[in-house]
Amino acid sequence: MAKKLFIRTYGCQMNVYDSARMADVLAPLGYAATLQVEEADMVILNTCHIREHAEEKVFSELGRLRLLKQAKAGRGGLIIAVAGCVAQAEGEEILARAPYVDIVLGPQTYHRLPEMVAQASRAGRQVLETDFPAEPKFDHLPPPRAHGPAAFLSVQEGCDKFCSFCVVPYTRGAEYSRPVAAVLAEAASLAGAGVCEITLLGQNVNGYHGEGPDGRGWGLGRLIGAIADLPGIERIRYTTSHPRDVSDDLIAAHRDIPQLMPFLHLPVQSGADAVLARMNRQHTAADYRRLIDRLRAAQPDLALSSDFIVGFPGESDADFASTLALIEDVGFAQAYSFKYSPRPGTPAAAMGEQIAESRKDERLAALQELIGRQAVAFNQGCVGRQFDVLLDRPGRHPGQLIGRSPYMQSVFVTAPETLLNTVQRLQVVAANPNSLAARLLEPRLLEHLACA
Ligand code: 5AD
Ligand code: SF4
Repeated sequence: MAKKLFIRTYGCQMNVYDSARMADVLAPLGYAATLQVEEADMVILNTCHIREHAEEKVFSELGRLRLLKQAKAGRGGLIIAVAGCVAQAEGEEILARAPYVDIVLGPQTYHRLPEMVAQASRAGRQVLETDFPAEPKFDHLPPPRAHGPAAFLSVQEGCDKFCSFCVVPYTRGAEYSRPVAAVLAEAASLAGAGVCEITLLGQNVNGYHGEGPDGRGWGLGRLIGAIADLPGIERIRYTTSHPRDVSDDLIAAHRDIPQLMPFLHLPVQSGADAVLARMNRQHTAADYRRLIDRLRAAQPDLALSSDFIVGFPGESDADFASTLALIEDVGFAQAYSFKYSPRPGTPAAAMGEQIAESRKDERLAALQELIGRQAVAFNQGCVGRQFDVLLDRPGRHPGQLIGRSPYMQSVFVTAPETLLNTVQRLQVVAANPNSLAARLLEPRLLEHLACA
């Protein structure tokens, strides 16, 4: 009988991609995915270490899994694996604190999961695999399986930026870009399996510099151009970018490549130069504003998103006011914002002038109020417009489907289930703070769709 695999994913889209690849790697061992944790023979928690909050959730989930494992003893048992960035950073501690965990594996070793499962189940011992192996894992992974019309494709991993608050350079290691040929082969195989929308992933995706067929390093703009030329690929997105690595080619790609969606997530973190310097962001607020001007000159329809941290050590009221001023000036379609959370081992955790939690709360509320207003205004500006939307999920209510607008908002529409996984022309009829409601224009029949 097929064994059942349950994966819970925390954190970023890179983890979502990694989870899908772990499922691909385990499929030949007879593991089929389940959404019911109770029926699982193996559970993987794919973890995130970026903020303290994300890490605490993992330990409380492990507590629940311990009970499930006890209940399943004698009924085939349960293999518990902890993957991702908490595993990388705190592997030993997990094994000590949660001795019922069978496998701890870092993000660079999941191609070896079958061996680890064999060791854990046959030898009955705990397995810890958190090396950064010399050969990239991508060389050892099977071709990805498509699950619907939209897919992630990891092109770059790791980060050399060392922002002073961030654990990623320690958990994901040095920057690595996959060769162009490997990326194009994966994209072509996804397109062949019916994928029409690809999101290119990397911790610092626009730092991409993979080796091209000509032996030269290709930047992200050039890579996007080559993917756009593949038959069947209608939409391309990418995330997450760093302002320092936005090249002229990438800006030109936003002007010239129609398949590249007019949306950019470009974290700025703060609008105050003193804070940006202590964050080691290697750019000023004025650099960011100039960059946005250049991007908008190339693609006037570009919607922007960003990440902000409030309450970074030493952030004064005036610094915070500069962040609000930058938000007012730039205008974002959406943004993510976080209270600064000291991460062990990062330089900022040891900085003086840590900010009181209550002050962080106040600043977060003020920033989120401003961003919320901008998001509502942006969404309202979409009412009446027509978009091609890839309807890739059923809605919460019967008869409803959901997709993403070109600008990443969720779009709800009343439409027959037969249109699931197709691109449809919709007209936006109403704006909510976090989504759009739309109506279906002339439904396009399946045989007319490039993307079915
Ligand atoms: N505290 C708060 N937010 C953080 N981020 C990264 N590290 C921290 C931290 N220590 C945020 C940044 C980053 C996003 C993914 O998470 O804004 O862009
Ligand atoms: Fe972390 Fe900075 Fe690298 Fe982003 S660019 S992953 S915030 S170190």
